[in-house]
Amino acid sequence: MTINELLRNLSGTLQEAGYIHGQREAEIILGHLTTLDTAKLFTSGEDEVDQQIVNRAQKAVAQRIQGRPLAYIIGTQQFLGLHMKTDERALIPRPETEHLVELLVKKIRARKLERSEILEVGTGAGPIAIALTKYFPSSKITATDISAEALELAEDNAQLLGADITFIESDLLEKVPVKPYEVIVANLPYVPEERLAFVSDEILDWEPMVAVQAGEDGFAYIRRFLETVKPYTTGESVIALEMWHTHGVLVEELVQTLFPDASVEIRQDLAGFDRFAVITLS
Ligand SMILES: C[S@@+](CC[C@H](N)C(=O)[O-])C[C@H]1O[C@@H](n2cnc3c(N)ncnc32)[C@H](O)[C@@H]1O
Repeated sequence: MTINELLRNLSGTLQEAGYIHGQREAEIILGHLTTLDTAKLFTSGEDEVDQQIVNRAQKAVAQRIQGRPLAYIIGTQQFLGLHMKTDERALIPRPETEHLVELLVKKIRARKLERSEILEVGTGAGPIAIALTKYFPSSKITATDISAEALELAEDNAQLLGADITFIESDLLEKVPVKPYEVIVANLPYVPEERLAFVSDEILDWEPMVAVQAGEDGFAYIRRFLETVKPYTTGESVIALEMWHTHGVLVEELVQTLFPDASVEIRQDLAGFDRFAVITLS
């Protein structure tokens, strides 16, 4: 079978199963298995494909039809240009979270905090912490998660990407030794319970629920995190959060009570929804 024939076969199977981006997904699967980029796949279209690759590609498409996310099937997802290893142990890093890192990077530079102690709470596969080591190699980064499995994957990623990070398994800040951090970032679960019904099956069936479920109002983790974070701040720390799009006002009110001198900037994601809060303590 040639590359073109296999691509037609895979994309046809995906499209028949309702995957409207079947063509693109077939290219990604085959590109991953052959290590050819899309342009090379087309220029090599008449080359014969090894039967082993045909089998693996068909197996990957069968998994996709079961609903398994593409990033888990191919085992990798790009995050700010970094090739993160992905599997069911942790949430797939999202493009909106790239935006959170970019906002934080700007803030860190503006406040000249490039050589800081940085803490990430709820690191998942590690994308935020690992990206920050690349932007700020002189910083010391600690990353936590409640999930031992997620931390294993984050450790794999840190090793693969040459990032020096201290990992701590902890329910929010419970087991994190108290010391001041200039920068703290958290993308904790934030989907309110009643909105889970609108979250896609692909997420609910395949991604870890510990990364998605966030209690009745979706603010439980962020609330508890903010209520306990003070001993970890310097009084001038920057705290960046990703949040549910209606929670900006909850963040503002809580910060006002806990840190009366702080300022809160609410920022939007690419779809225009309030998605991020950048808190500057003073
Ligand atoms: C929305 S995911 C974000 C993962 C990663 N930071 C990212 O941006 O891709 C939330 C993460 O918080 C972790 N988490 C959930 N509850 C937690 C808790 N009580 N303490 C610490 N981490 C928690 C989950 O295991 C998950 O890895």
